[in-house]
Amino acid sequence: MKEKYWEGMEEYPVPEAEGIRDYIQGLAREIDEAFGDMEDKYHPAHLGVDNGLKLYALLREKKPSVVVETGVCNGMSSAVILKALEDNDHGRLYSVDLPVTAGSKEGRTGAVLPPGRSSGWVIPDELRGRWELFTGNTYYELPGVFQKVRGGGHLHP
Ligand SMILES: C[S@@+](CC[C@H](N)C(=O)[O-])C[C@H]1O[C@@H](n2cnc3c(N)ncnc32)[C@H](O)[C@@H]1O
Repeated sequence: MKEKYWEGMEEYPVPEAEGIRDYIQGLAREIDEAFGDMEDKYHPAHLGVDNGLKLYALLREKKPSVVVETGVCNGMSSAVILKALEDNDHGRLYSVDLPVTAGSKEGRTGAVLPPGRSSGWVIPDELRGRWELFTGNTYYELPGVFQKVRGGGHLHP
């Protein structure tokens, strides 16, 4: 099932020289450390290093102006996308997330935040200028995201 998301992406070469593998592994380590020995914790298979590399390579190749992502959680994929946009020196990321905290009654999904953290907490500060987060259910938030993208401007007055 998982392969389906990445079908055809192998054709994009990963620019290894940019240290992107170390960057992604560092994000995964930081997330893992934040959970400590909690039983309910983020499952890194949601975006492993290999898929992170493919995602980065795709965005470096395509150089999109706008990326829309639903499902941020700790911010692993968001941090990879934002790194690619920064290296492209072009593009913005709009993300939607309705986060779940580890240990809560909705938890135990493997897609959880450590207690006290907010969606995308692992994203490095210097990459946040290209990012906008919509907190809420994708079903309700997505129309606003697309309205904003189409308008090409800023949503918040
Ligand atoms: C699999 S995780 C995302 C993984 C993330 N892309 C990464 O790279 O680690 C899914 C996220 O989507 C959130 N989510 C699930 N259903 C949602 C919905 N209907 N609207 C918004 N967010 C939702 C979950 O709480 C979780 O934060």
